[in-house]
Amino acid sequence: RMMKSKMSCPIDIDRLNAPLLEIYESLIPAEEEKAKQKQLLTLLEKIVSKEWPNAKLFLYGSCANSFGVSKSDIDVCLAIEDEGIDKSEVLLKLAELLQSDNLQNVQALTRARVPIVKLMDPVTGISCDICINNLLAVTNTKLLHDYSKIDVRLHQLALIVKHWAKSRGVNETYQGTLSSYAYVLMCINFLQQRTPAILPCLQGLEATYKVTVDDIECAYFDQVDILVGFGAPNKEGIAQLVWAFFNYWAYCHDYANSVISVRTGRILSKHNKDLTRRVGNGRHLICIEDPFDTSHNLGRVVDGNSIRVLREEFERAAHIMQFDPNPCISLFEPY
Ligand code: CTP
Ligand code: MG
Repeated sequence: RMMKSKMSCPIDIDRLNAPLLEIYESLIPAEEEKAKQKQLLTLLEKIVSKEWPNAKLFLYGSCANSFGVSKSDIDVCLAIEDEGIDKSEVLLKLAELLQSDNLQNVQALTRARVPIVKLMDPVTGISCDICINNLLAVTNTKLLHDYSKIDVRLHQLALIVKHWAKSRGVNETYQGTLSSYAYVLMCINFLQQRTPAILPCLQGLEATYKVTVDDIECAYFDQVDILVGFGAPNKEGIAQLVWAFFNYWAYCHDYANSVISVRTGRILSKHNKDLTRRVGNGRHLICIEDPFDTSHNLGRVVDGNSIRVLREEFERAAHIMQFDPNPCISLFEPY
């Protein structure tokens, strides 16, 4: 590992810019998919408003944070007045309403960590998860979307990394690997760390957007239009960034001592007492701090076995970017 960490970027890395951008373009969903998602949301709003006239529906996750790829499912949050509601009851009622409106595969998962109703719309072919009052997710969705408007290289890197993670089977939280949300946070923090920086730290700037959700104050600078061009002094292309991202996670990240923190735009030390408490209990095999709910470590799903799998995949990807004559094929080879 010590030797490998001294590796420098291949001098001809830029030859991979065009093929990587071609893959990136192919991952972006077509406009008509957006229209179908809107159509489904409108239908759901109609169904929900009959039973709960004051409820609101919000899209969150990849259908709203801009990091969605073709044929993604959509994530919907039903926001309903809190007082005295029983989430399970609401979910069961919702499932009943959806079923009688001919939506397919309707399932209420009331015991899941985040309780949801699942459904498939036979008209648009889109699958959907609906959760209740998960407004923190709606808020972090806006943060990710705002970051994506600052420099297109975030969108490119995140879609490529998500595609790699799905192809290699390391985007499965139930198997101890990382969520898409965690990978996007890793990409944002990585671009905050480049010299010169490609992304600013929005939570470190004067707040223009403030909401309190579940007693957590979420505040950051959201006038991102004036930050377009922030990363322009950095001339790195997508190939160099993909190389550096995997090189970092394969050979440079200090897994035992470091915390990835989009909130501060830095890599923090776990030895900071405050932080050790903040990132929660558990073994901290990889630490990725949630930007708002700082007690939430997105890496807490990772166990002794899956950390090995993850690190081997990072090393495989770094090796391919360094030496493989045809990285754009090998990188995404199904596992
Ligand atoms: N989320 C969260 N905390 C987590 C996991 C997810 O708050 N530990 C929220 C985030 O708002 C995230 C959304 O749930 O955007 C959906 O998570 P996920 O499915 O991981 O990400 P998507 O962006 O929807 O990715 P995919 O395209 O794989 O569905
Ligand atoms: Mg999703």
